[in-house]
Amino acid sequence: MRRSEGVRGSADELGAVGQTLLTPLYARANASEATGFTDPLAALLLSRVDYDEAQIPTDPTTVAGTIYRAMAIDELATAWAANHPDGRIISAGIGLCTRHARIATPAGFEWYGVDTADVIAFRRKVLPDDPVRLIESSITEPGWTDNLGVRPTLVIAEGLLMYLDAVGVRTLLRTARETLGAEVVADYLHPLLAKNTKHPITTATGARFGFGVRNGRELARLTPGYRLAEERSTVEPFGGITRLIVTIFRIVTLGQRTAAVARLEPV
Ligand SMILES: C[S@@+](CC[C@H](N)C(=O)[O-])C[C@H]1O[C@@H](n2cnc3c(N)ncnc32)[C@H](O)[C@@H]1O
Repeated sequence: MRRSEGVRGSADELGAVGQTLLTPLYARANASEATGFTDPLAALLLSRVDYDEAQIPTDPTTVAGTIYRAMAIDELATAWAANHPDGRIISAGIGLCTRHARIATPAGFEWYGVDTADVIAFRRKVLPDDPVRLIESSITEPGWTDNLGVRPTLVIAEGLLMYLDAVGVRTLLRTARETLGAEVVADYLHPLLAKNTKHPITTATGARFGFGVRNGRELARLTPGYRLAEERSTVEPFGGITRLIVTIFRIVTLGQRTAAVARLEPV
């Protein structure tokens, strides 16, 4: 067990799904210089968490994939915020996400995060001066929007959809569309990967993957009222053997990706 000083929490306070937040936190805190990605707040938060090494997959592929995903979403979120200075970003399944500290947003812009009770309590503990407004709820319970006023809204689901099932993803999209009129940015796994019961993250935490889609159009079609506006690969920046594998995958599946980020616009 690693021990840290100051405001701290133990990973054992989190359930299996909650513990999946450790992997992206670790990745953001340990991004390689070559990516150009830095997140000092993530490094600080990681230093406040006590965890067993076995709870976090630290292999270079998992770390790099998480960083490529974060960079793609940072770019989309920055552009959206610049076009919606009176808007808000809601991170669905926020974990210990620190995007609010990484990207520049206009004065008056609002940040929200939704997650389960164990994770919200943990976040409050290790980040007591958090400017993000936190909502304690399962994202598949429509009630989480009850006290939100009207504002242009971007819902970000980063590293979340794979832990839901198709009904849960549909509910999330329907709530985002019907209640908030929100744009959505979400990453997804291909169903072939989502079926992988030996993925390093599920092995480390005991959480299970329950959802995958073949592409962003399929994701948009899950609920009426969305169209796929754009899609970004989170795997193509890889080099070496990983790049070879994802390229072969793309050819064999006629253009599908193992993992990507989709931006859905309301229609
Ligand atoms: C892999 S972590 C990603 C955390 C964060 N988005 C990030 O990128 O650092 C998945 C997060 O989704 C949350 N989550 C999973 N299922 C959820 C649900 N039904 N409702 C709310 N949060 C959920 C977990 O508790 C966890 O914090």
